Amino acid sequence: MAKDYELQTLGVRAGQARTEFQEHSEALFLTSSFVFKSAKQAAARFAGEDEGMVYTRYTNPTVSMLQERLAALEGAESCVATASGMSAILTTAMTHLKSGDHVVCSNAVFGATIQLFNNILSRFGVETTYVSPTKADEWQRAVRPNTRMFFLETPSNPLTEVSDIAALSAIAKKAGALLVVDNVFCTPALQRPLALGADIVVHSATKYLDGQGRVIAGAVAGPKALVGDPMTAFLRTAGPTLSPFNAWVVLKGLETLQLRMLAQSAAALELARWLESRKEVSRVFYPGLASHPQHELASRQQRAAGAVLSFEVKGGRAAAWRVIDSTRLVSVTANLGDVKTTIVHPASTTHGRISPEARAAAGITEGLIRVAVGLEAVSDLTADLQRGLEAE
Ligand SMILES: Cc1ncc(COP(=O)(O)O)c(C=O)c1O
Repeated sequence: MAKDYELQTLGVRAGQARTEFQEHSEALFLTSSFVFKSAKQAAARFAGEDEGMVYTRYTNPTVSMLQERLAALEGAESCVATASGMSAILTTAMTHLKSGDHVVCSNAVFGATIQLFNNILSRFGVETTYVSPTKADEWQRAVRPNTRMFFLETPSNPLTEVSDIAALSAIAKKAGALLVVDNVFCTPALQRPLALGADIVVHSATKYLDGQGRVIAGAVAGPKALVGDPMTAFLRTAGPTLSPFNAWVVLKGLETLQLRMLAQSAAALELARWLESRKEVSRVFYPGLASHPQHELASRQQRAAGAVLSFEVKGGRAAAWRVIDSTRLVSVTANLGDVKTTIVHPASTTHGRISPEARAAAGITEGLIRVAVGLEAVSDLTADLQRGLEAE
């Protein structure tokens, strides 16, 4: 499909391949293997001389449609789909790192990403240094002769810190390292890291790409030489492939991606402004607010500020839990990226396993609440939060 279509068009149309039946909606191929016309064709497929399907661990037409659509949205030459967001990060690491390599990673990435680097990749001789997502000089200082990868997530979770992708890309390029951006919070509807100089984009498609909290899925997008060729080979052998059913669900999610991201971002901005006006709230973290330290950068780098915001209530944990426990509409769950608004207390859940000192250093206070805004009416959301804010 022509690359000059607008993003919303690509989200609906890119990558669709019709069968002989000319189905209008994308077909779901629930099959583990594919039949060959002859022994000669089987041999050619196994030798890679014939491009057709072989086995769903290698590839599947529904998964291929998702890969092509997401590649088009990210402006990437290629994309591979994976079983989860974590397997997308693992696939990226296993493809591009080896024993003796060093990674510089934002200290505000998803908790399991830190565990992957610290508890698993460290056993294979990969060392990781953590730096601030917003201080480019820390990234520069952390570079070693063996640094092979920079890894970040922007905006960060839950404090919505925004990293300067173009500035960090320049440092990574000089260091001979790949810049990998986890684009979960923005999705390509709001931010296209490859156009800003990133080498590879990873996704938990479980979040906004699906958008309705139905499946676990992941993806990696980037140049064929970094993603399509080596990662397809890794997936075939190691096996963290995406199921065709989950790929089909995410394909359907992509059709409404832009619409959802813009609507949810607009709702988040309205809610953030309302929270900022409340006397019970000491601080609101949302890149769309002029009070946000990287507001100007976010406005330049992102099409909208995203759907995740955090706020700190006066009164610490007791006050925060009161707000959460007083909700009747909003879902108390650690997931995000859904059209249903979710609320969580990071200090006792997502960040509960890190020491109180490390938590405080990271700015995850006892009064902090994270909200991932969905598609409900903002007036219903403010009413739901107001009940707890005003409770004694
Ligand atoms: C930013 C980010 N990256 C990666 C992941 C991991 O994704 P998954 O749960 O699909 O493995 C998550 C999950 O919450 C996430 O928020």
